[in-house]
Amino acid sequence: MSSYAVLVSPSANRVYAGAAAALTIAELAVLGETVLAGRLGDAHQEEVAGVGYVTFDGDLGAAGLAHIANLSTAFALFERTDDGAFRPVRLDRLHCLDDDLLTILKYQGKTNEVFTKLLINVTVLGSHSAGRMLTDRLRVLDPLCGRGTTLNQVLMYGWHASGVDRDAKDFDAYAAFLRRWLQDKRLKHTATVAKLRRDGQTLGRRLDVELAISKERWAAGDTITVSSALADTRATAEIFRSGSVDAVVTDAPYGVQHGSHGGGGVRRQPLDLLAEALPGWVSVLRPGGAVGIAVNTRTCPRDQALALLANAGVEPRDTAAYRGFEHRVDRAIERDIVVGVKSE
Ligand SMILES: C[S@@+](CC[C@H](N)C(=O)[O-])C[C@H]1O[C@@H](n2cnc3c(N)ncnc32)[C@H](O)[C@@H]1O
Repeated sequence: MSSYAVLVSPSANRVYAGAAAALTIAELAVLGETVLAGRLGDAHQEEVAGVGYVTFDGDLGAAGLAHIANLSTAFALFERTDDGAFRPVRLDRLHCLDDDLLTILKYQGKTNEVFTKLLINVTVLGSHSAGRMLTDRLRVLDPLCGRGTTLNQVLMYGWHASGVDRDAKDFDAYAAFLRRWLQDKRLKHTATVAKLRRDGQTLGRRLDVELAISKERWAAGDTITVSSALADTRATAEIFRSGSVDAVVTDAPYGVQHGSHGGGGVRRQPLDLLAEALPGWVSVLRPGGAVGIAVNTRTCPRDQALALLANAGVEPRDTAAYRGFEHRVDRAIERDIVVGVKSE
């Protein structure tokens, strides 16, 4: 067993204010009951020389450290020696593209990128693909993808990304951004936008992108794909092949007016949308795949969201670790994460 201390990134502290350490502890707890079962002790918040850390004991090895490296809030990791010194531990993240892929686009309604990474991590960790997340190119669908924060984080991991959104402005903005970014970075790619047709009907449009992280990878055919659809999310099962994605990860509408979160005007019930859309989302999940949804518990209470998951045929992950993610965003939004797994 070694003792470790994680320094939480300043960006996570900015997003979560006082909750960054608690969310880091919850994410570590999910690691401790999934891929690092039996190798990770409980984590705690601790102040050392006036600076806050999240500390834990673990028997990690290289693969364990690689999982810790991808913790959504990790800025730096130290191993604590017997005499109390902090020895820096190298963090080899999955990240295979420049970070500005996540930060350039700024717009109202964007899901914070640190939170998006947390949501992806805890969903995939809950799935039966968790053991492959450091080695394989998984496929993740965000069926309410907006301007692509989830898609971009999935690309950062070197995984395949799929998305659906019905907002044409969001679809066009994401397509334009991704093409421009790939050109600016001089990454080999192809990108096409075409009509999305099913059974002789036009459902909307689709963006298909294929890229590689280097010329050598492109030449070797080792590519990453993005396919995003402009369509209603309730048509997901008609757009993507059944059983084709490892995880469905999404930030559901919060049921408050954009731009008036402080006022908290409730616009529509996100529960209705989830009830109608979930069966289609679950059908494109492979057996053992997981669905993870960020919800505003003010308009979409946790127990009701979990009941919807169960009704759609996915078993809720509702252990103490998965119950540790609720946090305040503002006066109208208490955000939580619900995760469920499709049986094999
Ligand atoms: C909370 S936002 C997601 C933001 C996204 N994560 C991002 O960072 O850009 C929810 C999204 O759901 C989309 N949406 C709501 N109802 C929909 C529906 N029935 N079909 C498809 N998209 C829908 C909205 O257009 C919005 O982009």
